[in-house]
Amino acid sequence: MTTLPTTARTGFDDRTGAHHPFGDTDAETQVRSDDRSHVFHSWSAQAQIDPLPIAAGDGSTFWDYQGNAYLDFSSQLVNLNLGHQHPDLVAAIQQQAGRLATIQPSMANDVRGELARRIARVAPGTLDKVFFTNGGADANEYAVRMARRVTGRRKVLSMYRSYHGGTATAISLTGDPRRWPNEPSDPSVAHFFGPYPYRSAFHATTPEEETQRALEHLESVIVLEGAATVAAIIIETVVGTNGVLVPPPGYLPGVRALCDKYGIVYIADEVMVGFGRIGEWFAVDAFDVVPDLITFAKGVNSGYVPLGGVVISEPIASYFDDVSFAGGLTYSGHPLACAAGVATFEVFERDGILERVRDLGDRVVEPEITSWLDKHPSLGEVRGRGLFWALELVRDRETREPLVPFNATGADAAPMGAVAAACKAAGVWPFTHFNRVHIAPPLVIEEDELRRGLAAIDAALDVADRYTAS
Ligand SMILES: Cc1ncc(COP(=O)(O)O)c(C=O)c1O
Repeated sequence: MTTLPTTARTGFDDRTGAHHPFGDTDAETQVRSDDRSHVFHSWSAQAQIDPLPIAAGDGSTFWDYQGNAYLDFSSQLVNLNLGHQHPDLVAAIQQQAGRLATIQPSMANDVRGELARRIARVAPGTLDKVFFTNGGADANEYAVRMARRVTGRRKVLSMYRSYHGGTATAISLTGDPRRWPNEPSDPSVAHFFGPYPYRSAFHATTPEEETQRALEHLESVIVLEGAATVAAIIIETVVGTNGVLVPPPGYLPGVRALCDKYGIVYIADEVMVGFGRIGEWFAVDAFDVVPDLITFAKGVNSGYVPLGGVVISEPIASYFDDVSFAGGLTYSGHPLACAAGVATFEVFERDGILERVRDLGDRVVEPEITSWLDKHPSLGEVRGRGLFWALELVRDRETREPLVPFNATGADAAPMGAVAAACKAAGVWPFTHFNRVHIAPPLVIEEDELRRGLAAIDAALDVADRYTAS
């Protein structure tokens, strides 16, 4: 994966034969002009953004039209688990396009069936059937729909500090500011506080206390909302965009027990953490818990072709044996997406991706970023697992005042903007959210690349330190 620096000069990639428009200012101008004139972007005030035109990507790096390289420490939107232009995924899509580019969902198809079989094999418990969707939000929509149908109840409980997608029910479930402009929400959704030991809503001082109190709180919410009205609880196994919040020991098994006690469906949203991000096929495996439904997307095929889905446990799947499932999508189980998913399994197994994620997390990332606590006063806490970490930045370690306020924009967000700019100037594309920098590189990142990216973030934290009280 080292050919492109040469390509950045020549515009020609010997390995793939692709021509890249490096240094072609006319092409760059056209991309900018088309984008600004005609592309309507997500989650943005359209006149206030300036999207960077991208010319190429390879492995853990992508390039702009000037030939500037960026080490992708955010895996795009934490989806690009096997990196840019993975040859096996590209070949699988090309071959499938040559064989059968599409076929409607009501027909059986070899790659769709093979991917479902492989997912079922690595899913825990009796989760043995897969309903395919186009992405993560619709996976959550359909999981909720299944839970509502099976239980005959309507209400769904989800966490504050969560993201579950941009569509109607998924954005209602979401516990972050992206929900606010989309309200009124689905009226049958209520939110609760999950564990967050660093900023405990329960004034807990140990992880054990946090688990116990968070579970007591959740049970109170269930009872006060009316246990007999609650169809499902949906939880990101490790909360992603809202903080890389790793559940303390016992929390998720406690949620499982509450769901069993009250006949509630437990939905694990693994759209961001499934498929290797923390070194497991499904993150629930790291926390000794078996949910009733798991939703996935992103890493299943690194987003080369849109794909998501719901893995369904036997009792829920069998409910629909003789009851028609009222839901569907024209592109459910699209063969191009599924072919990339099958290739993903092959690469994971052949290249030991789960093992390398655990190794790089334990041996490289955790010791390195933990050592920064000694020298960066802006670093309040580091937390994470595998290749998924958060650096929580503060103005004051004693008070834990965040480096920027919750949901800050404009001048209030400037310190985080300065940290991100320092990373980019050093050739690293970071994932930043509120007062945090997340570390989420492709799972195929080389160790020297990983160390280089970490060194750039280490240096960028000097910028954050300037805003601290000390
Ligand atoms: C945990 C989680 N759930 C759901 C979604 C929504 O997925 P999509 O953007 O594919 O609809 C995301 C996207 O970031 C996510 O992180």
